[in-house]
Amino acid sequence: MKANQNNIFPVFESILQRKDKEALLCQKSAVIWLTGLSGSGKTTIAIGLEQELNKKGILTQLLDGDNIRAGINNNLGFSEDDRVENIRRIAEVAKLFLNCGIVTICCFVSPTNEIRYQAKKIIGENDFFEVFINTPLEVCEKRDVKGLYKKARAGEIKDFTGINSPFEVPEKPFLEIKTNGMAIEHSVNEILRIVLPIIKPA
Ligand code: ADX
Repeated sequence: MKANQNNIFPVFESILQRKDKEALLCQKSAVIWLTGLSGSGKTTIAIGLEQELNKKGILTQLLDGDNIRAGINNNLGFSEDDRVENIRRIAEVAKLFLNCGIVTICCFVSPTNEIRYQAKKIIGENDFFEVFINTPLEVCEKRDVKGLYKKARAGEIKDFTGINSPFEVPEKPFLEIKTNGMAIEHSVNEILRIVLPIIKPA
């Protein structure tokens, strides 16, 4: 339930602005939003991307589904409503980092167009770069790194994305990475090539 906002007085205008922080860091901030099935490689690619950006002197923050669900969102499950709330909170958190001048890499299944649209709306469309990590379900299921697909097939996990809960393919992602048969470094470099000119303009 939304709380009464009548007695709330935000001070967004008077705090130090994003451009001041970007100038301090000599970078432009952005939210790089990785979406894809569980086990598609989002986190691994994000870790590689963060390391490469770090080497180039760029300050980053990585937000990842399992980490966030172990902390700030540990009261949420995988119903449609809980996923919407999960992504709403994450988008608000990502926006705080964005406004601090930090390049924020988000890895969340974020399975529906509506959920991703919500994130884009909160973050702002000019700062939201959606990257679809496209790994076929069969490949994710075959790898089954966390053993979750097996559990889902056995009926031990309900609402599991790709098995008994939908994953809607992004309609117009900023970038699509087809990971099948591609080395991690290749996926990382592909993202890097496209985002570097945005966050470190010449
Ligand atoms: S989201 O759908 O709300 O965006 P999120 O990215 O936070 O999901 O969390 C997904 C991670 O939670 C998966 O990588 C997986 O490890 C774990 N998980 C546990 N149960 C489920 C489920 N029912 N559906 C999808 N992922 C699940």
